[in-house]
Amino acid sequence: MIALCWIVLAYLIGAVPSGYIIGKAFYGIDLRTRGSGNIGATNAYRELGMNAAAAVFICDFLKGVLAVWIGGSTPLLALACATAAIVGNDWSVFLHFKSGKGVACGVGAFTFICPWATLSAFVVWLLVFLMTRIVSLASIVAAPVVVLVIYLAHMPMEYVIFSALAAAIIIGKHHSNIRRLLAGEEKKITRDK
Ligand code: G3P
Repeated sequence: MIALCWIVLAYLIGAVPSGYIIGKAFYGIDLRTRGSGNIGATNAYRELGMNAAAAVFICDFLKGVLAVWIGGSTPLLALACATAAIVGNDWSVFLHFKSGKGVACGVGAFTFICPWATLSAFVVWLLVFLMTRIVSLASIVAAPVVVLVIYLAHMPMEYVIFSALAAAIIIGKHHSNIRRLLAGEEKKITRDK
């Protein structure tokens, strides 16, 4: 019962819509109506600039860290809280269940749980991004790397299962990006900000 409370709290932490709040409070802009319509750091960069993107990324990252930190008394509960935070980030009760894609929040949560796997995924993310300048593609390719590293490191099966679930959620939430990528219409990140 107590575990369920921590999981619900982790969901609510993840559900705080950082990008929406920062966009509205500091720029008077609802990110859901601009660019890709996502409230994450990438769209914040596109529409509001580097400072906003950094603020959104840090807030979303910290939501993931906090959600795992508060509930992480056992590895299983930490993993459940990480997943709950990503679910909250992606289907926020505060935004009618239409919100982010879970990358920064997932990075925060899994950096806390298994830093080496997350660091490996970041290296892959960076390589794909530098080669293509497409953030969504880098995120889609990097998400399964966490699962692969956890699996190859022979970590307990619950780590494999929950990281696979988190990666599946993150990739699934990129469905509109995947459609644009396949159509050759996904926007690249340029240096003009
Ligand atoms: O983290 C989200 C990123 O991978 C894609 O964002 O705005 O291009 O849909 P966006």
